[in-house]
Order: sequence, then structure tokens, then C-alpha cells
Amino acid sequence: MPDDRLDPATLADDLVNRVHALASLDALREAEASLVGRRSPFAELQRTLGALDEEERRTLGASLQEARRRVEGELEARRGLLAAEERRRALEADRLDLGDVVDAAVRLPVAVGHGGLIAATQRELEDVFVAMGFTVEEGPEVESDWYNFEALNMPPAHPARGLWDTFYVDLGDPETVVLRTHTSPTQIHLMERATATDGLPIHSVMPGRCYRRDTPDARHLVAFHQIEGLVVAEGITFADLAGTIESFTTAYFGPSITSRLRPGFFPFTEPSAEFEVTCTVCGGGGCRTCSMTGWVELGGCGMVDPAVLTAVGIDPERYHGFAFGFGIDRCAMMRYEIADLRALTENDVRFVEQFS
Ligand code: DAH
Repeated sequence: MPDDRLDPATLADDLVNRVHALASLDALREAEASLVGRRSPFAELQRTLGALDEEERRTLGASLQEARRRVEGELEARRGLLAAEERRRALEADRLDLGDVVDAAVRLPVAVGHGGLIAATQRELEDVFVAMGFTVEEGPEVESDWYNFEALNMPPAHPARGLWDTFYVDLGDPETVVLRTHTSPTQIHLMERATATDGLPIHSVMPGRCYRRDTPDARHLVAFHQIEGLVVAEGITFADLAGTIESFTTAYFGPSITSRLRPGFFPFTEPSAEFEVTCTVCGGGGCRTCSMTGWVELGGCGMVDPAVLTAVGIDPERYHGFAFGFGIDRCAMMRYEIADLRALTENDVRFVEQFS
């Protein structure tokens, strides 16, 4: 019978105590071989087994294996414990001192942003038209020549194309894809969809961003916003158009502002008109903003040209329509008496904060 020193159970007690005393993962890794591995007392004991008779060898072998398993189990448990502890300590070290953060926030208040003036104006305009029974639709900002020009009654090389200083996109054949120069192409999408789905009549407004190769000045931006309106139904007349424009003007600008239509030209409407509203700066008396006329032009409108209805497959004998389009930025300019539209894109907080 081996002496006490080599009794596996006693040996295991001793080794388990050593495992419990390990203070770090590094220490554990270092001690591993001498506790259960090649340099451990178990390995040493194992080597003595050969000298024993079979009976003793079997008994000792079994208790040796059990003792080693016990130490291995304790070692793994200790490894898990130390790993968790080290992780907790690392997280603790990384943690921000909340006290500092709160102090900094008190010293330096974080500015909370808000929607921009144009987005807010667009939403208000949509609300006005929705209250009048219109739906709100959107169209793409990149258009083919067909939507931006041709279907709107401007065949290639038509001189009216010159009214819109166009940005061409480098896609497809040269000069066939454009950044839309107005929201009117969305009318075409809507009418095509209506034709395909039996979706007439149409009562919709279509807000969105447009682009023109313009030199920015007090009243023009390279990227600007329009809202388009389209009604296509049976029995629509110019009086419906004029009434809609006047209702919108009063609803958006208030009862002291009125609208007027002046003869104009657009290839996609016949007859066409430009629509103007009382100058909000001088109330109609005449000032620099309205060039002393008392009126400011907001946009264009007219009865949808039969050629446009035909291009999208709508029977112009049966259906009539009116359309209009005007600048959202221009509306904000009039409503808030902004002297220079470029202020909308400069992000000067002294300007922006006035519209929170
Ligand atoms: N698309 C025109 C422009 O940007 C404005 C316009 C005129 C829209 C007449 C219309 C319209 O729908 O009928 O200058």
C-alpha cells in the first residue's frame, strides 16, 4: 500500500487548495501543468503503477483517475470564475464616470435639432391641399427626357426646352437623362398609372426637389422645391382652376392675400397662366420685393393640353384637366419675408433657429 503522501485523494485535497489560491488567469495557466499535466504529482504517481501488482494497480489507477478529474473540474471552475472577474474589472475600468458626463451636459447644453423651414412649408402646403380633397404623390428626381420634356409636349429641339436650364445625367445616350427641372413630369407618371389602372379621376399634388443650371441669386436656387397640382376628370373648366388657386392662397397666406392669373405660356397647358399673389412684404402697395407692382409670381398653371392627355392615353374629348406648379421655397420666402433665398441653404444657425 502506498504511503499517505501518495494517496490520490489526499493529494487531490492539497491540489484543490492550490487551485483555489490561484489569483489570476495568468497564474492559472502557468500552474496548470504542475497541477494536472505532465509535471503534476499525478503523472509521477502514474509512473509508479508499473511496479505494483495487478490488484493494487487497478485500485490505485481508479482512485488516481478520480482524483485527477476532481482537480481538473476545480481548475475549470476556477478558470471560469477568474475570467468573469477579469472581464468585470475591465468593464469597470472602461466605464465612463456618469457624473462627469452629466456635469459636461450641464455646462455645455446639447443643441437639439429641428425640421427645416422648407420641409415644414412643404408639409403645411400638403395639409392645405389634403383639406381640399387632393392626395399627395411623389415622383423621381432623375427623369428621362420623355417625362421631363417630351410627354409634356416638348419634342426634341422644341424651343420651349430653353425655358429650363437643364442638368443632364451621364447615363444612357447623351442628353437623355436629366435631373428634373420641374415637378411637372410627376403629372405624366400619375396619368400613365391612371390609364393603366383605370385610376381616373385624379386630384393630386406632387411636392419635390427640382434642379436647374441657374446662377443662384436672391430668388433662385440650383436645387429648389416645387409643388405640382393635377386634376383630371370629366367636365373640368378654367373656373375650377382659378377657384382652387384662390382657395389655396387664402388658406395658406391668410384672407388679406389674394391671387390673380395673368396670361402666360407653357407647352403643356392651353390656355396657360402665371399666378401671382399679393406681395406679403408691402401688402400690395408696391415695394422692392415686388418691383413696385404689388404682386409676386408664385408659379404657372393652365388647362392640361390635349396633346399631353393623348401622350398618356387619356381621351381628351372625354376628360379635361387643370394643372399648376409653384415654388415651395418661394412660398416660404413670401410667408416669412425672407429677403434672399440663399439663406435657406447656408445653414447659418442664426437664420435656421428662427424657424424651430
Ligand atoms: N413646370 C412649370 C415650371 O416649372 C410650372 C407649371 C406651369 C406647372 C404650368 C404646371 C403648369 O403644372 O400647368 O416653370
